Amino acid sequence: MAEETSWYKDAVIYELSVRGFYDADGDGGGEFRGLTLKLDYLAELGVNALWLLPFYPSPLRDDGYDISDYTNIHPAYGTLDDFKMFLDEAHRRGLRVITELVLNHTSEQHPWFLEARSSRQNPRRDWYVWSDTTDRYKRARIIFSDTELSNWAWDPVSESYYWHRFFSHQPDLNYDNPAVREAMWEVMRFWLEMGVDGMRLDAVPYLVERESTSCENLPETHDVLKSLRARADRSFPGKLLLAEANQWPRDVAAYFGAGDECQMAFHFPLMPRMFMAVRLEDRKPIVEILQSTPAIPDSCQWGLFLRNHDELTLEMVTDEERDYLRDEFARERRALLNLGIRRRLAPLMEGDRRRIELMNGLLLSLPGTPILYYGDEIGMGDNIYLGDRNGVRTPMQWNGGWNAGFSAADPERLYAPVISNPVYGYQAINVDSQRRYSHSLLSWMKQAIRIRQSTRVFGRGSMEVLDPLNHRVFAFLRELGEEKILVVSNLASQAQAAELDLRRWKGSVPIEMSGGSLFPPITERPYLLTLGPYQFYWFNLRRL
Ligand code: GLC
Repeated sequence: MAEETSWYKDAVIYELSVRGFYDADGDGGGEFRGLTLKLDYLAELGVNALWLLPFYPSPLRDDGYDISDYTNIHPAYGTLDDFKMFLDEAHRRGLRVITELVLNHTSEQHPWFLEARSSRQNPRRDWYVWSDTTDRYKRARIIFSDTELSNWAWDPVSESYYWHRFFSHQPDLNYDNPAVREAMWEVMRFWLEMGVDGMRLDAVPYLVERESTSCENLPETHDVLKSLRARADRSFPGKLLLAEANQWPRDVAAYFGAGDECQMAFHFPLMPRMFMAVRLEDRKPIVEILQSTPAIPDSCQWGLFLRNHDELTLEMVTDEERDYLRDEFARERRALLNLGIRRRLAPLMEGDRRRIELMNGLLLSLPGTPILYYGDEIGMGDNIYLGDRNGVRTPMQWNGGWNAGFSAADPERLYAPVISNPVYGYQAINVDSQRRYSHSLLSWMKQAIRIRQSTRVFGRGSMEVLDPLNHRVFAFLRELGEEKILVVSNLASQAQAAELDLRRWKGSVPIEMSGGSLFPPITERPYLLTLGPYQFYWFNLRRL
């Protein structure tokens, strides 16, 4: 497959909120002009794709996932011209841009819904899902279980119920209606034509409803996606579709189709198991989930992540595992939200630099494309006293000055307060200070990303998990053509030794990738490695 059309396999993606990144006009929230000014920072970090959270007109009751106009920019974030300028500047720096396509629902403020609810006879009525009772689709679970009691909401205007899988102000579109499918293709076309490189398909499992099913992952939903992909391929080859399907591996893999649906999908079940493995100091949770992950078509790729703009979802774990993770990672009960934990990476790792590095080391070396969440590269903290998921969406911390260098506005005017506690506050944790010394987390992240990007093995290679007796050590081999990389991680807080069976690579010499040191050559004998607490190595295996 052409390298140009499978660019996402070699990508390191950076997820960011336009509102939270940089406020150039001093009104208390970021905008496209501000983001454009910070593109050099992102290029310098070494990422090569940006995923932008929703930036469309919206009442912002779900941070923009409640869209009231799909083909425009929220006035607080700028204009379409600002967006085009941003896109050009990103492309000029070799940064691809992935935007959000929220297919499942609109805001209740969207003109389509206003029309649809205006009367039962309105021609747009059938764009949404209506019912006279709440008895339909009883088997569908409630996703925002902390806020919603039902997936049906009463519409007093037309005196009937409408269907919604998320907040009640987000009515679900009716994908049985061909006009809806056509309208969403037009939305997609609008942004692809403008030059965006890919789209994250928000909440895709829920597009279609059928009686007596969970209303998730239905064949009809896959048909909708396949048809969008076919149309995208025809007019805009090489554009990425990235599925957000918080499901078990087999069900997520269905979103790849036979290579004719989405090229990428997030690996939701792997994420919590990485946290679990480091807490249990045992590789088993990761190894097991990788073993139960089906092979995927050649052109497809998993999207890997540690944290994102939502809570750390614990939907794809067993009840027992969920209890364990909640007990270990959310001792402060305020940190719980729905089924998950609303914290950033650094606080989850108790600020332990070694564990933060280890988690990022896994993220960057496991098979798939890594997705970083803004602020985590400097170890930003969170604020669990803000409502919903807002505590992991606070302003980016650029320096130790006024409003963390994010905005010149009065602090009261900021869309969210900056983090200012003594541990994670902007005076201590910010880009400027971390740029100034070579041992900062930011410097470390840059180097790790650079190593990852120095080879295609991480993004495209096969993976073989090794089986040393010591379960606290997780070792695997990535291989692409002649290139081989050995990754060995100590998941424990104590130093460990492990003997690896590397006989197959006898005669090769491991070269440690961050410093270039040669390790003893591999022989017939078990290969002994010792690792400090949470330490990990990436080795190039070379025949000298
Ligand atoms: C996705 C988004 C989340 C949003 C939800 C409803 O899960 O990641 O932030 O609230 O969809 O659109």
